[in-house]
Amino acid sequence: MRIGVLTGGGDCPGLNAVIRAVVRKGAGVYGHEFVGFRDGWRGPLEGDTMTLDVQAVRGILPRGGTILGSSRTNPIKIEGGVERIKENLETHGVDALIAIGGEDTLGVAKQLFDRGVKVVGVPKTIDNDLNATDYTFGFDTAVNIAMEAIDRLHTTAESHHRALICEVMGRHAGWIALHAGMAAGANVILIPEKPFDIDKVCEYVESRFKTRYSPIIVVAEGAHPIEGQMAVQTGDLDAFGHVRLGGVGERLAQEIERRTGKEARTTVLGHIQRGGTPTAYDRVLATRFGLAAITAVHDGDYGKMVGLQGTEIVRVGLDAATAELKTVPPHRYEEAEVFFG
Ligand code: F6P
Repeated sequence: MRIGVLTGGGDCPGLNAVIRAVVRKGAGVYGHEFVGFRDGWRGPLEGDTMTLDVQAVRGILPRGGTILGSSRTNPIKIEGGVERIKENLETHGVDALIAIGGEDTLGVAKQLFDRGVKVVGVPKTIDNDLNATDYTFGFDTAVNIAMEAIDRLHTTAESHHRALICEVMGRHAGWIALHAGMAAGANVILIPEKPFDIDKVCEYVESRFKTRYSPIIVVAEGAHPIEGQMAVQTGDLDAFGHVRLGGVGERLAQEIERRTGKEARTTVLGHIQRGGTPTAYDRVLATRFGLAAITAVHDGDYGKMVGLQGTEIVRVGLDAATAELKTVPPHRYEEAEVFFG
């Protein structure tokens, strides 16, 4: 068989480990050939390919990013996009596709599968918000990067008696904020799933200042206040209709300073959370996903996504995987709240 591989959406550490595992097992064990499509769905849409053989994947296991490139191109929004993809797959002799991506990339994979494309999905996102898998690779790396940053913020906050705010990624789900905040002992964690009360946040800040320590607030970029408390964010939309986020940490700092009279400063971790080398956990998970994905293709089991359930890799329908996002449930937030203030 000749199998196409693409990586779409925001990159994350571990993408190269998936690509390597797919090619090593696919070529070495099954004798399949591969073609790399560049920059997510733009590759098959425009017929932009690159060589993807065992030689091309040597040495990439620890490398962040993706050798295939990525984009947020949405072929469903482009007139004739699906037909162009089907034509290009045929032109390049591609029998099946492995699409590595998050909700958007896999949503497109699902629609292409419904229109006859043989596709298997691999879940990726630092946000960990994909349904039907307990974890996505990239998440553990992002959490560790954020944890280390928050550890560092603690010591400088105490030296200067400041409230320090750390804004982390997490558009719809607060998994990174929750895990990094818990791991690093944040005094307040704010997530998109639960609109925050700025009065309560300021209470926590003031009570923390009464100890000899300074407050550390971890806020997910998608977190927002209860209605009417602070100005909400606006921004440009991407091809999947998502607002470009960022700025809630700064707004929070202004509001905390205004209300408490204490100096408050913000650090935005941004893309630092997505860059660099994956943790051991993410390398192993990504490798196992890659091995399972190529086996699903070899078995002809299309329209599926590989996922982690407990410690086992399973196959689930792309529809189940993309039907809804996996957000932080209230009881998980309540666990973190025990340490607030
Ligand atoms: O979906 C992953 C993610 O990192 C989100 O947490 C974040 O909102 C978004 O991507 C940022 O995307 P971009 O890199 O396009 O700004």
